Amino acid sequence: TRVFISRDMASVALGADTVAEAFAKAGCEVVRTGSRGLFAIEPLVEVETDAGRIAYGPIGPGDVKAVLDGTHANRIGPIGEHPFFSGQQRFTFARCGVIDPLSMRGYAANGGWKGLDAAHALSPQEVVDAVKASGLRGRGGAGFPTGIKWQTVLDTPAHEKFIVCNADEGDSGTFADRMLMEGDPFHLIEGMAIAGHAVGARHGFIYIRSEYPFAVETMHEAIARAASRIEPFTLEVRVGAGAYVCGEETSLLDSIEGKRGEVRAKPPLPAIEGLWGKPTVINNVLSLSAVPFILAEGPQAYADVGFGRSRGTMPIQIAGNVKNGGLYEVGFGLTLGELVNQIGGGTASGRPVRAVQVGGPLGAYFPPSMFHLPFDYEAFAEAGGLIGHAGITVFDDTVDMAKMARFAMEFCAVESCGKCTPCRIGSTRGTELIDRIVAKAPRKADTVETLPQMRNAGTAARTHDEEIELLRDLCDTMKHGSLCALGGFTPYPVLSALDHFPEDFGSAHVHAA
Ligand code: NAI
Ligand code: SF4
Repeated sequence: TRVFISRDMASVALGADTVAEAFAKAGCEVVRTGSRGLFAIEPLVEVETDAGRIAYGPIGPGDVKAVLDGTHANRIGPIGEHPFFSGQQRFTFARCGVIDPLSMRGYAANGGWKGLDAAHALSPQEVVDAVKASGLRGRGGAGFPTGIKWQTVLDTPAHEKFIVCNADEGDSGTFADRMLMEGDPFHLIEGMAIAGHAVGARHGFIYIRSEYPFAVETMHEAIARAASRIEPFTLEVRVGAGAYVCGEETSLLDSIEGKRGEVRAKPPLPAIEGLWGKPTVINNVLSLSAVPFILAEGPQAYADVGFGRSRGTMPIQIAGNVKNGGLYEVGFGLTLGELVNQIGGGTASGRPVRAVQVGGPLGAYFPPSMFHLPFDYEAFAEAGGLIGHAGITVFDDTVDMAKMARFAMEFCAVESCGKCTPCRIGSTRGTELIDRIVAKAPRKADTVETLPQMRNAGTAARTHDEEIELLRDLCDTMKHGSLCALGGFTPYPVLSALDHFPEDFGSAHVHAA
């Protein structure tokens, strides 16, 4: 009997290796795949039958017999019929969980290389036009139109150009880049080879964070196996060293060049002067991996899905205190409430949802009163937030939002590259300021004198309201005076916490709940 079990890092963390060993010991042929993306049912085992694959999960090593008999209580049936999967539109993750990630045969047999072959039949300009027509926007977070970025690189004359894939995936609660690299690495390679053809670059780098050892290993192996298929394009992997700021594109370039990762001023844009001063396409894993579908199926098939100016699908990552944590790829436009309550199933603790942070540590916190927001770049920007890399982190009613705001400032202080003052100094002053606000909250007024920083007469003299005003002022300076998104976006979690959850800072609730 042939069974399919994921070898994704998250599945392995949940025990997939021991389950795979148990099935192998029982004489089964075990195919290791990527993850389907719903962690509540991992370790997941799919058994090949005449009626297709039948899924069971979660499964332990002692469950082999019951699974092979078809009597196990955790029988799911065909995975596509499970409610978490039936509503998805998997353009990017179509093969993830289906094939052996390193099987060139499996990749080709499941639609692989169709996009690259289609691209090679077109001129570079025609490929760029197709990406433009698809409406694809940068999936790393900023949402800049990918086709326009490629056009800039194509139009910049140079003897040498580069394709760089940003696989630093530093946002908390996100794992889509990792899942794709571990579960369908040829797909990313195909997207990068298409980009190379489109802009005239012969070499590419994949910059992967060091916290992703499985992805690094899988990409190394996949690049070796696909080398002749992507000729004349060549690829190599570079591994980061754990700095969040190295996910910022210009620090990332410095890091590849062997320097300390520090943000460069823009202009010049990397598209004009990037890696070693050459025109460089830098795209996120998910942007590059959206491209094979666009070339294979035509830009219209991609553009037909979506909401407003956000076209195509987004692999949304649902994490934190939530029942159905996992990856959900779907066209833009579902509401935040649908994602958290219906698809995510509400909190894992069973308590009411109080806040969700969207877009990683630099994203805003939203209360349930804003759950009507459609998942869309513009709608989130208008509401004072961002969708970023599409990570949603759920919190129940035990969360202390003043602590979360403080964490945002502290995170910025720890990860700041130190180049500009609003971020380097502002984040530390912000942490202290939030401590003072909490200590001076009317209900805690008696503790004020005990805080060490209160020894400074200036800070002791300010009232609670004045401290809040100062925090807003500091956020304004950080937002407009920082060189990159780390310092510039830290105000999002801080101000959203303050605006939507003022009671946690000791203020009256002024916004409608
Ligand atoms: P940005 O808005 O400065 O630039 C977006 C991209 O468009 C860059 O690649 C830039 O070089 C390019 N670009 C801009 N104008 C161009 C033009 N005329 N021609 C060609 N290319 C052009 O945003 P940035 O600083 O690159 O990214 C900020 C975003 O990163 C935030 O929205 C945040 O959500 C996200 N982020 C993502 C993380 C992750 O783990 N994926 C971690 C931290 C932040
Ligand atoms: Fe460096 Fe912070 Fe300035 Fe970004 S905002 S360049 S991380 S100091």
